[in-house]
Amino acid sequence: MAKSSYRTALVTGASSGIGEQIARVLAGRGCGLTLVARRTERLDALAVELRERVPVDWIAADLATEDGVELVEQRLAERPPELLVNNAGVSSGGNFHELPVEAEVAEVRLNVLALLRLTHAVLPAMLRAGHGGILNVSSIAGNQPLPGFATYGATKAFVTSFTESLAFEVRGTGVHVTVLKPGYTYTEMSAGAPDPASLPGRLLWLDAEQVATAAVDAVTSGRLHSVPGATWKIADAVTQSLPRAWVRTLSSRVRAT
Ligand SMILES: NC(=O)c1ccc[n+]([C@@H]2O[C@H](COP(=O)([O-])OP(=O)(O)OC[C@H]3O[C@@H](n4cnc5c(N)ncnc54)[C@H](OP(=O)(O)O)[C@@H]3O)[C@@H](O)[C@H]2O)c1
Repeated sequence: MAKSSYRTALVTGASSGIGEQIARVLAGRGCGLTLVARRTERLDALAVELRERVPVDWIAADLATEDGVELVEQRLAERPPELLVNNAGVSSGGNFHELPVEAEVAEVRLNVLALLRLTHAVLPAMLRAGHGGILNVSSIAGNQPLPGFATYGATKAFVTSFTESLAFEVRGTGVHVTVLKPGYTYTEMSAGAPDPASLPGRLLWLDAEQVATAAVDAVTSGRLHSVPGATWKIADAVTQSLPRAWVRTLSSRVRAT
């Protein structure tokens, strides 16, 4: 496995799913880690396992809260990593007006505001060093409106647009920013996912390790976009090239529930 060009990384949402796999891929490439999430037992178990390869510590933080974000901002200021992975995210399903507004606000705090704050906390140090990477985990869900997941789709549209803008602002500085846009991926977030051996499973669903490897490869080689899997590369190209009115109509037909 190729050695990582980043010697240290802070990964949010490292206690399960894509974030856990990103941590594993980075550790396998010799990158020391700070893991962030709320479930301390999970973080500790992963840290113990990965310490056989690289130095690992963890921070228990709820990034949907001011205290949690401040804690991680402080760490980023004191010990800026060479790579920041903004992966922690949640999604809520249902008609927006029927969902508890507190949960929708918490989703925006986590998916949008924490990502923005942590990026702001680390980017100046990376620019001063002339070296660094930021990997922001968005989703294909951010490409189009998503009835049934209105808040989630909007948060991911923010992540994609924000990262694409930053990419231009830091061009030529030695700092790379990458937006990861996975399609359906087998993780704890995907309750009710089909059997991996079924046709939809094989055609549409991604393995978290595959997604993590593609993402780390992209940020290491300075690529702005990472869309793992052939099916999702096509979906990404189609949703971005069709007129927006057609995309809106299509997405309302495949309304997520
Ligand atoms: N699975 C998919 O189909 C899919 C597709 C496209 C994009 N994504 C994106 O991939 C990212 C990872 O999701 P996943 O699929 O790997 O789901 P997951 O297994 O549920 O992982 C979510 C991670 O976020 C952390 N997290 C949740 N709320 C948090 C909070 N308030 N503060 C700090 N950490 C928090 C969780 O840790 P704790 O619960 O321990 O805090 C966990 O480590 C998300 O941004 C998601 O939107 C997923």
